Amino acid sequence: MRPDIKEAASHYVHRLFLQAGNSSLVRLLKKEAFKRIYRQMINDPDSLLPRTFPSDVEPWSGEKPQGPEDFLKGTVTLPSLPHVQSRLREVLNDPESTAQDLVDIICKDPKLATSVLRLANSGIYEIEEKIETPSKAVALLGFQKAGSLALGTVSLSMFKRKNKAVLDLEKFWKHSIACGVVAQEISVAAGLGDPELFFAGGLMHDIGLHMIFESDYSLGVTLFRLAGSEGYNLYEAEQDILGFNHADLGGYILEKWKFPRQLIAAAGGHHNPHKVKTDPDAMVIHVADFIAQALGFGLDISSVIGSIDPAAWQKIGITADQLIELLPKIRRLIDDIFQILED
Ligand SMILES: [Fe+2]
Repeated sequence: MRPDIKEAASHYVHRLFLQAGNSSLVRLLKKEAFKRIYRQMINDPDSLLPRTFPSDVEPWSGEKPQGPEDFLKGTVTLPSLPHVQSRLREVLNDPESTAQDLVDIICKDPKLATSVLRLANSGIYEIEEKIETPSKAVALLGFQKAGSLALGTVSLSMFKRKNKAVLDLEKFWKHSIACGVVAQEISVAAGLGDPELFFAGGLMHDIGLHMIFESDYSLGVTLFRLAGSEGYNLYEAEQDILGFNHADLGGYILEKWKFPRQLIAAAGGHHNPHKVKTDPDAMVIHVADFIAQALGFGLDISSVIGSIDPAAWQKIGITADQLIELLPKIRRLIDDIFQILED
């Protein structure tokens, strides 16, 4: 190991984890991060430079909204939920729905059908048999699993790039998928049930962030600059500038769209200390969000990863060593799913 790079990498990791505390989980994740940053400093040092924006972009001069509702009235209007999502959501929320209802929706949207089939065959569900049709996918995966998978994938495809974007969309997709995969694997290891809903929760958790950044270019740049300053975090910057954070907004949006309760809790609670301590969905997504960033699947907006609530990790009940053992599988799944969904 080169001593100069070793020192620079450990300094970098120290800064990244400034707010993270010193639990055994954090110590192990720091080791993982160090290995990755060291490699990156040797192979691709430019990728670690902070992003800059033209100096002539004026700071955002909008008025602080009263809250998420007011923000959506003034700065940006909440788009209506695309038809296929609202049909999926209805079918998932209705106890009378049949497997055939779900198959019908998936079959009507060729892109959705392709994504569901490729994901079903990707090894996330460890099914040996080849799945060739949506009806076989629903039969083999089950109604809930196939439905949540469809809802998650179709929702992720909503996150499209605008011309002048502040948010790096590739990083956003990878972060969302990584958070979904980590949440799913944690829920399996901890025996929390509904892994597919945790996966969908991870895919959707930053919907509020996407909406804030896509709403106004100068607002995005202003938040980016503030969040990038020493020791600051994106959700703190949002709180300062807007008076609420992207989790508040995300929960509000998914509630308006009548998404399943778990997904509302996951998006709305992941930076909300009160929910992080009490709601299993918020808890798991909060932890998964932190872990995804520590593994290098962050948005690279804030100068720090943020903090992890030790009580949330303790309540989930798996050990840091257990998590580290899951990492090779987690990394493989993230790459596979990213490729499938990005196509
Ligand atoms: Fe977030």
